[in-house]
Amino acid sequence: MAISTLAKREPVPTPSTTSPILLTGATGYIGGRLLRVLQNAEHRVRCVTRRPEALQFCVAPTTEVISGNILDRESLTGTMDGVEIAYYMVHSMGSKGDFEEQDRRAAHNFGQEARRAGVGRIIYLGGLGETSEELSPHLRSRQEVAEVLRASGVQVVEFRASIVIGSGSLSFEMIRSLVERLPVMVTPRWVNVTAQPIAVDDLLQYLSAALDLKIDDHAVFEIGGPDAVSYGDLMREYARQRQLRRLMIPVPLLTPRLSSLWLGLVTPLYARIGRKLIDSIRHPTVVRDNAARQIFPHIRPQGVRKAIASALGNEDRECAATHWADACQRKPAKERGAGSHTSRPRSSEGEENSL
Ligand SMILES: NC(=O)c1ccc[n+]([C@@H]2O[C@H](COP(=O)([O-])OP(=O)(O)OC[C@H]3O[C@@H](n4cnc5c(N)ncnc54)[C@H](OP(=O)(O)O)[C@@H]3O)[C@@H](O)[C@H]2O)c1
Repeated sequence: MAISTLAKREPVPTPSTTSPILLTGATGYIGGRLLRVLQNAEHRVRCVTRRPEALQFCVAPTTEVISGNILDRESLTGTMDGVEIAYYMVHSMGSKGDFEEQDRRAAHNFGQEARRAGVGRIIYLGGLGETSEELSPHLRSRQEVAEVLRASGVQVVEFRASIVIGSGSLSFEMIRSLVERLPVMVTPRWVNVTAQPIAVDDLLQYLSAALDLKIDDHAVFEIGGPDAVSYGDLMREYARQRQLRRLMIPVPLLTPRLSSLWLGLVTPLYARIGRKLIDSIRHPTVVRDNAARQIFPHIRPQGVRKAIASALGNEDRECAATHWADACQRKPAKERGAGSHTSRPRSSEGEENSL
């Protein structure tokens, strides 16, 4: 576990029943799933969101929903009063402007308000990626957010994950969308870059276990399942489970930039955010520090095969999952289109495409 050498703080108490847990990103994929986990565990939750209306059907009677934009410091004032632990589950990748600048500003605003309100711990989910390697703007920004949060002086427990497998997760939906639509794929080099995916249920276990973690300083945990696989392996396994015959033809010369532009044409839903995601697949994203397995021995992450089977099994269960594009709007998978293999438009058999 990488613990920073910054000044020691008082141990963070286990959240009491009187102190609400602050949750950001509850309208998003991970935050939306986390909201349900916290509510099921009977925690009091306070959501800060730009879209309170999107949460109205998702929240328990004990959950507060407060309107706030993390990019607007004023709107955060008072939202963390009385809070001991706050989850930071937001990113600006879907925004039109400079997402790195926005994420930096958002993390600064959040950290400053947390510090002012006396919050004891911020739990943040970022991205896995070796800091010594030249990181993509996306991964660089995810790690910079953690640094900005730590600079606030509030204790930060940071988790770093690679691909999250679950019905509704951006990376999983991108895989699904491509495999469902393209019988023949011309695959560029990024498809062979190794990742260490984690099932969303395992990820949620780590995020909620961090509430009770007994540490006095910052911590960084790299988390992943037992399998190190490429996007190509995931596509093949997805196709196998869906009984789809798919052919992949490697084309090493297709640049990530070109292939991400193409992705926008094949799956318009992913045009902006998917491109940034593909641009970020440059180096392996695998767990190099096994501290999470030692500190959370009760969490035994499942392998890719089981994780994909669970994601496919979950998706037609109404209200079973949040979706990165419309989390918490409570539409069944069939009505969502892009998230459902049953309703998406398909290319004609034999059509050849590249990623
Ligand atoms: N999903 C994955 O595969 C994956 C993998 C590894 C790490 N992660 C990390 O997990 C975290 C959450 O990702 P996600 O997949 O759940 O993202 P997501 O589905 O795109 O949700 C992003 C959330 O951030 C909120 N947000 C953005 N800007 C905001 C602002 N200015 N003020 C308030 N809320 C704001 C959005 O709220 P609105 O509804 O208002 O837009 C939304 O709820 C990120 O840090 C991401 O890097 C995700």
